[in-house]
Amino acid sequence: MAVSRYSVVKAMQILNDIASRFPEAISFAAGRPPDDFISLPDVERKLSRFFDFHPSIDRTSLGQYSTTNGIILEMLSEYLYRAGIGRFRPSDLLVTNGAQEAILIALAVLVPEGKIAVTADPGYVGFTGPAEAFGFAIEAFADDEHFVSKIEERARREPRIGLVYAVPDFANPTGRVMSITERANLAGLAERYGFHILEDAAYRHYRYDGDALPTLKSFDRSGRVLYVESFAKTVLPGLRTAVVVAESTTGESAPIADRLGAVKSYVSVTTSPLAQATLAGLLLEINYQIAEAVEPRRAYVEANRNHLLRALEISFSEKSGYRWKCPEGGFFLTLETPRPFSEIDDLIACAEKAGVIVLPMNLFSSTGSRPNEIRLAFSNIVPSRIFTGIEALRTHLVN
Ligand SMILES: Cc1ncc(COP(=O)(O)O)c(C=O)c1O
Repeated sequence: MAVSRYSVVKAMQILNDIASRFPEAISFAAGRPPDDFISLPDVERKLSRFFDFHPSIDRTSLGQYSTTNGIILEMLSEYLYRAGIGRFRPSDLLVTNGAQEAILIALAVLVPEGKIAVTADPGYVGFTGPAEAFGFAIEAFADDEHFVSKIEERARREPRIGLVYAVPDFANPTGRVMSITERANLAGLAERYGFHILEDAAYRHYRYDGDALPTLKSFDRSGRVLYVESFAKTVLPGLRTAVVVAESTTGESAPIADRLGAVKSYVSVTTSPLAQATLAGLLLEINYQIAEAVEPRRAYVEANRNHLLRALEISFSEKSGYRWKCPEGGFFLTLETPRPFSEIDDLIACAEKAGVIVLPMNLFSSTGSRPNEIRLAFSNIVPSRIFTGIEALRTHLVN
C-alpha cells in the first residue's frame, strides 16, 4: 500500500506542537529514555580512558574533521561480539549520528530509482518521514503476523523491493515482536529475492518477560541484513551515536559499508569524533557490558510498565470496552478503544480537558489503520503521574 505525504507532515507537526501547547499535561507521548538516567557523562574521564587505550592517537585529532565511517570501529566490533550479535570486521561497520542517519543513508544507497522501500504500518516515523521527505517510493504492510508473507507476495509479483525496514523487538509504535520463524523467513526472502533489510534494534535491551530472541541478522547468510543499534536508549540520546553492521554480499561492485560511507560523507561528513571517543571511553569503563549498565533503567521502565498495567486495571473495568495486552518489552503499550480516537479532535480534547497527552495509533499510519487504538509511552513518566493520568484519561473517555 503506497504511503502518502500525510504522515510525515502531520505526525511530526502534531508530535512537536502538542507538548509545547500543553506543557503541564501528563504525557504518554514521547518514547524517550527516562530523564532520571540522563546525566552528562564525565567527558574528560571518558576521553582519558580512550587516550589510555590508544596512546598513539593525537589528542587534537578529536577536534579535527575525521574519517567518515568512524574512529572507534575496532571497539564497536568488540562490543558487538561480546553482546552476542556476531563477529564483524571493523571495515564492515559505521558509526552514524543515531539510527536516524543510518536510516537515511540506507534509503539513499539501497532504494535507487525504480526500487521501493517496505515498512510496517503503523510504522516508525523516523523511517516513513525521511522516506517521504526525500521522495523514496515506499509501501507499507500491516504490522501483524502476515507482514512477512505480504513481503513475499510483493517480491514474487515484481522484483522491485530494495530495502525492508524492520524493528523485530518491540516495534515503535505497536510494540510488536517478530517471531523466530518470521525473522528466519524474512532473512531467507532477502537472500532469495535479492533485497536488503535494515534491522533496527533500538529497544532490544528493554525486555521484561521471556527470553531474548535471535536477531534477524543472525539468520543472514549472505550479507543482506544491515543491523543498526542506536545508543540513544542505552547510553544517551544526546550523544547521537549508533553502530551499523553492513557486510557485503558476494559479487558486489563496492563494499556496502563504503557505499554507505560515501553518502554519509555528504550528509554529516562524520559522527563527532568527540562523541565517539566519549562513547568509547564509556564502553571501556563498563567493560563493554551495555546490558549490565542499562539494567537499572531497564528495571525502571519495566516497573513503569507494571504501574501502567495496574493503573489500567484500576481505571478501566472489563465492561468498559477498553482492552490492552501486556507488552513484553520496549516503551509502548497499545490501548484499544471501543470507538475511534481521532488524530486531531480527540488528541487535543484529551490534552485540553483531561490534561493528558496520548497519541492515536493512526498518527503513525499512512493509511489511517487502527483508528481504535491509542499508543501509551511509559518509559519517561513518574509512577504517580501514570495513575493520575490514566484515571484522568478514563474520566474523559468513558464519561
Ligand atoms: C524504532 C526506533 N529506532 C531508533 C530510535 C532512536 O533513533 P536515534 O538513534 O536516531 O536517536 C527510536 C527512537 O525513538 C525508535 O523508536
